[in-house]
Amino acid sequence: MPVKVSIIGAGNWGSAIAKIIGQNIQKSIKFDPVINMWVFEETVNGRKLSDLINQDHENVKYLPGHKLPHNVVAVPNVKEAANGADILIFVIPHQFIPKICDDLKGHVKTGAIGISLIKGIDEGPGGLKLISDIIREKLKIEVSVLMGANIANEVADEMFCETTIGCKNPASGKLYKELMQTPQFRISVVDDCDTVELCGALKNVVAVGAGFCDGLGYGDNTKAAVIRLGLMEMIAFAKVFCKGPVSIETFLESCGVADLITTCYGGRNRKVAEAFAYGGKSIAELEKEMLHGQKLQGPQTSAEVYKILKQKKMVDKFPLFVNIYLICYQGKSVKELITCLQNHPHHM
Ligand SMILES: NC(=O)c1ccc[n+]([C@@H]2O[C@H](COP(=O)([O-])OP(=O)(O)OC[C@H]3O[C@@H](n4cnc5c(N)ncnc54)[C@H](O)[C@@H]3O)[C@@H](O)[C@H]2O)c1
Repeated sequence: MPVKVSIIGAGNWGSAIAKIIGQNIQKSIKFDPVINMWVFEETVNGRKLSDLINQDHENVKYLPGHKLPHNVVAVPNVKEAANGADILIFVIPHQFIPKICDDLKGHVKTGAIGISLIKGIDEGPGGLKLISDIIREKLKIEVSVLMGANIANEVADEMFCETTIGCKNPASGKLYKELMQTPQFRISVVDDCDTVELCGALKNVVAVGAGFCDGLGYGDNTKAAVIRLGLMEMIAFAKVFCKGPVSIETFLESCGVADLITTCYGGRNRKVAEAFAYGGKSIAELEKEMLHGQKLQGPQTSAEVYKILKQKKMVDKFPLFVNIYLICYQGKSVKELITCLQNHPHHM
C-alpha cells in the first residue's frame, strides 16, 4: 500500500512544504500521489480559501505568487484531511495545536507517525512542555521534528537551504528524508530530537532581541553579541530542560546556529520587534498590522520561557530571554536590552 501523507496546516510554511512534498511525491511510487492539506477555513477575496487553493492552486493569502502542485488538495475539515494518513505533518502556529489534536483524537490511523514543523513551546506541570510532547500525548503516535534555517518564501522560491530532522527511529527518518529532500532542500537527520525542537522555538526569542537592536539603531557587532549570548542561553536552557542528553553538535546543525542567524536577519519576529522599538504600538497591534494573518512566535515564546524559568526559580540565569519578555509585555524600555547585554553573566 502506498504511504499516505497529510499536511495539517496551510500557512506560509505549510504551503511551502506542500509545494515540495507535492512535487516530490509525483516522482515516487512509494507514496500515495494525493496529499490532503488541512486549511483553517476563511474568506479571502470573497471566496473560501480551500476553494481558492483547489481551483487556482495558489494560497494567495499565505504564500502568494507560488503555484501549488495539483495533487495537493485543500480540505477544511481536519478529521477528513487526516483520514487514512500514514504520515501526519503538523505545521500550524503552536497556540492552536492542543485544540487540533483534540479534534483529531480517535481519527488517526493506527500505526501513523507524525512530524512537527512547529516552532514554539508550552508550559506544563513539570516545567517545559514541547509541542511534540503535546501531539505525542494526545494522539499516541511517534512524533519527530523538522527545524532549520528555512524562511518559507525562500524555500518556496527554491533557493538552496538545509534543514534538520530530529528523529529517534531510523526507519522513520529515512522515510521523511525520501518524502521531503530535494536538491535545494537538504536534510540531516539526528536523534537529539528535543534539542532540535528547542532550537526552533528559542531562536525566535533571540530574533526579537535582534529586532530591538535594529530598532535602536545599533549595528552588526551588537546584533552579533545578541546572537552569541542568545545562543549561550539556548544551550543552557536545553541543558536544564531537555529530558535526554544534549549534544552541542546539534547546535551546529541547520536547526541551531544557521536558523538563529537567518531569523535574526530575515524573519518576521525581527521585523516586528524593530517596529516595536520605534515605539507607540503593542506587539499584538503590530502583529495584526504588519503580518496580515500570519502569526508571530518570538514574543509569545518569551512569555512561555519566562513562566517556566519563574517556576524553576531560574529567572536570573537567563537575562536575555527574560528582558525580551519584560520589554515585550511588561513595559520595560527597549533601551534596557543594551544594559542587559552589558551586564550579562558571561562578562562578569
Ligand atoms: N513561515 C516560515 O518561514 C516558517 C518557517 C519555519 C517554521 N515555521 C513555523 O511553522 C509554523 C506554522 O507557521 P506558518 O508560517 O505556516 O503559519 P502563518 O503564520 O503563515 O499562518 C497562520 C496560520 O494559522 C492559521 N490559523 C489562524 N487561526 C487559526 C485557528 N484558530 N486554528 C488553527 N489555525 C489557525 C491560519 O489559517 C494560517 O494557516 C509555526 O510554528 C512557525 O514558527 C514557519
